Amino acid sequence: MRIVEASATDSDAVLSIERAAFARDDEAALVADLLRDPTAQPSLSLLAFLEDKPVGHVLFTRVVLAGASHPAPAAILAPLAVVPEYQRRGVGRALIEQGASLLAASGVQLLFVLGDPAYYARSGFVPAVPSGLRAPYPIVPEEAWRVRALAADVLGSVSGVVACAESLAKPEYWRE
Ligand SMILES: CC(C)(COP(=O)(O)OP(=O)(O)OC[C@H]1O[C@@H](n2cnc3c(N)ncnc32)[C@H](O)[C@@H]1OP(=O)(O)O)[C@@H](O)C(=O)NCCC(=O)NCCS
Repeated sequence: MRIVEASATDSDAVLSIERAAFARDDEAALVADLLRDPTAQPSLSLLAFLEDKPVGHVLFTRVVLAGASHPAPAAILAPLAVVPEYQRRGVGRALIEQGASLLAASGVQLLFVLGDPAYYARSGFVPAVPSGLRAPYPIVPEEAWRVRALAADVLGSVSGVVACAESLAKPEYWRE
């Protein structure tokens, strides 16, 4: 498997992976919006290739922890997509790991996600609310709102409410 940072010339591949994985246009439209949204920057867009075909994509965008006692650089993973024919081969997990490692190297300390608790638990995401890290909107079930620490001792040392990019701030994106 090969994972690269997606550039503007990869846009068609990225959007078609999002459409194929979710079987609708909404997530592709969200990705397009986030990539041109200044409030989402810096962002990290990763494309995974298997057998030289683009088969997976993940987008990470900047979030801010409002009300925190000290700054803790943070990002959110949304969305993650693997085309149906290439699912269950570790592409999703590899995209998460590569992203976490690049984000940690750039100084990001907290990585948030809203998604299936069982899936994201496998990649080290724990429930965020017990650590005082709240989502922009109340999430049901609460354990779908998760966080992964990318720096030592950060969990428990900082709390606040996540403020995301404008394009991601619509309530319909915050339902699990
Ligand atoms: C969710 C998704 C990204 C996973 O990608 P993937 O490349 O298949 O994932 P991986 O191969 O890394 O991991 C697969 C493992 O996770 C498990 N898994 C996959 N989806 C799961 C889910 N929703 N809940 C729990 N476990 C899940 C599988 O059982 C598999 O485990 P196994 O191989 O031991 O049986 C992919 O299924 C997808 O694109 N789905 C549609 C879009 C979506 O729902 N995206 C996530 C929300 S943003």
